[in-house]
Amino acid sequence: MSRHLISPSILTADFLHLESEIEMVNKSEADLIHLDIMDGVFVPNLTFGFPVIRQIKSVSKKPLDVHLMIADPDRYLEAYRDAGADWLTVHYETCPHLHRTIQRIRELGMKPAVSLNPHTDVSLLEPVLKDLHMVLIMTVNPGFGGQKFIEGSWDKIRKLKKMIQDSGAKTLIQVDGGVTEGNISDLIEAGVDVFVVGNTIFSSKNPIQVTAKLKNPT
Ligand code: DX5
Ligand code: ZN
Repeated sequence: MSRHLISPSILTADFLHLESEIEMVNKSEADLIHLDIMDGVFVPNLTFGFPVIRQIKSVSKKPLDVHLMIADPDRYLEAYRDAGADWLTVHYETCPHLHRTIQRIRELGMKPAVSLNPHTDVSLLEPVLKDLHMVLIMTVNPGFGGQKFIEGSWDKIRKLKKMIQDSGAKTLIQVDGGVTEGNISDLIEAGVDVFVVGNTIFSSKNPIQVTAKLKNPT
């Protein structure tokens, strides 16, 4: 039996009714809630900030999996912890002192993760692999929900899986972007542990049922 985790991304949720969207996730078989934080600098889009995260935290029964797509995330690590982040992901491309950033996230009591853009090679994380709770392989270019899965991701996932196995690390592999009921089984097979799913869940008529299918694929 697969033990993969589902982390619904609220990027395509109904923000006028955010509380009921979070309650839907609470009732579902999802394991986490994925929050996409964009600054209009590192990625060409803007989302939401600390007050919204705090309010989500107050109703969420699932841990918050916060994905920072912002320039210079080091400035805000503590503020995201205080707002309610449980897992905190920074982008490799935004951290000149990545080792220090990872240690700081852990010191603050969060689970540290690093995300790689589609063009960034997984081998760059080899020196810090054992320090990481999770590596996020972006399977679309970050910035928008509802994009198509980039096929070149398969090689990256397999390469990362091998790196993790060879090093004896316990690091999880997460993918984000273009995950559907059609590709999740093959992704589990390739070694993915945690799935960010936005559009497939929030654009469906029955998000609880879709989440159950993603959690228990046939
Ligand atoms: C993209 C975000 C994703 C996105 C999920 O920058 O990081 O979390 O919302 O993508 P879809 O909608 O393809 O599942
Ligand atoms: Zn994301």
